[in-house]
Amino acid sequence: MTALVALFFLFPAAMLSYSVYRHIVKWRKPFKQIGFTIQALVILAGLVMFYGFIITQPDQRGMFIIIVSSAIVSILYSINAVELIARKWRKPMNWLAPLLYSVFTIGLFFFFFLTTRRWGELKENNPDLLDFAIGGFFTLMTTCAVIAVFQLFQDAIWIGKLIPKLRKKKTTLGGLDMDRSTFLTKTGLILGGLVFGNFLWGMTKGKFGWRILEEELFFSNLPDEFDGTTLVQISDLHLGSFNNNFEPLTEAVNLINKIEADYICFTGDLVNTYHTEAEDWIPVFNQLKAKEGKFSILGNHDYGYYREDEDETEEETAAAEAKCRAGVIEMNKKMGFDPLINEHRILKKDGASIAMVGVENWGESHWFPKAGDIKMATKGMDKSLFSVLLSHDPTHWDAHIVGKENIDLTLSGHTHGAQMGLRIPGVLEISPAALMFKRWAGLYEEGKQRLYINRGMGYLMIPGRIGMPPEITKITLRKG
Ligand SMILES: [Fe+2]
Repeated sequence: MTALVALFFLFPAAMLSYSVYRHIVKWRKPFKQIGFTIQALVILAGLVMFYGFIITQPDQRGMFIIIVSSAIVSILYSINAVELIARKWRKPMNWLAPLLYSVFTIGLFFFFFLTTRRWGELKENNPDLLDFAIGGFFTLMTTCAVIAVFQLFQDAIWIGKLIPKLRKKKTTLGGLDMDRSTFLTKTGLILGGLVFGNFLWGMTKGKFGWRILEEELFFSNLPDEFDGTTLVQISDLHLGSFNNNFEPLTEAVNLINKIEADYICFTGDLVNTYHTEAEDWIPVFNQLKAKEGKFSILGNHDYGYYREDEDETEEETAAAEAKCRAGVIEMNKKMGFDPLINEHRILKKDGASIAMVGVENWGESHWFPKAGDIKMATKGMDKSLFSVLLSHDPTHWDAHIVGKENIDLTLSGHTHGAQMGLRIPGVLEISPAALMFKRWAGLYEEGKQRLYINRGMGYLMIPGRIGMPPEITKITLRKG
């Protein structure tokens, strides 16, 4: 009901805003920029007031204002771009195209904010709709931001021209019969379109596009008997994000089974918030087969750290978190994994031995549990053995493993490759994850020690994977 009432007011407001905008774009500079800024501020103020009534937690307001202001600026700039190009089209497309674009972008924008008001309820009853709203908003914002960058660039040039020395005559670009403004606007729109298409794919199909990456790793201290041993690493399942859509992960389980690995190593984050998220998935992961064994560890999300119960005493919080941690360990066992909680197993083959070590989560940031204890995990272990360590957060490797412990290979996850990036095998791989983590995906070596970071199978926050497919890693251990 509230949504309907809000739409009743918001739709004409959006339309009014658009018609005002149609006038403003015709104004001369600098009045155009001033008008545009005032309009953006009015919309922002309206939204803040509107959202002030519906937002539940006051501590989210600062973030809300930042997101909303950048969103409004991006949307208005992108409408400006569409309007600039469509202006030269025939009637009725010259006004219909920008109008439809405005209704679509502004509509999706409001749809997201109306949906967030019912976040808790939707997460419970209609999680797909919530995913659609989050995915749609994120796609829209990125697309508009790309277009906006080119418009902002033009404004920067315009400001630069105010300085007389920099003033130049109108130029054509590379012989194109196009002025710079049209060229930049069109480039922005084309890039925006590409971004939109990629995001749409990533939010729908891309997040289930399983990719098997293979690594053949040579170690001089690997016993001959273990030469050719295969490990499949999977990580960051985040089962709560899949909304009980069993098919894609069942397909992934079948893909992994075809590898016929000796060992399967799951490097944590089974769930997002509660251990109960994994309950219905037990029959799926029971089907996961390895010839010799399935091992697992806990990730930062497996400790119930991210629950939103504010009216708890410290004891109640500790009890709820302990329940979640114990629950996740139990779920892992029911799925056929051997959870390694700061402990190790000795793997034997034809009389030779290697060690499989697993630690609890240890993350550099204060946001993450620091329960991982390598000393405890390797207690009583023959340190000269070739050893594989499972540790969810790769920051643990730099802090406690490399140059400090006799661990030959460490398998981590956690970064998700930011669920976004661009990879041309053998040439380059870029991702926003590189800004957040020193080591964020693939293989790293320091001396004789190696770290492999899996890009994860599941997704969190953003319901998609854009240019960063969910990963299944096949590692072959070789002597040499
Ligand atoms: Fe994760």
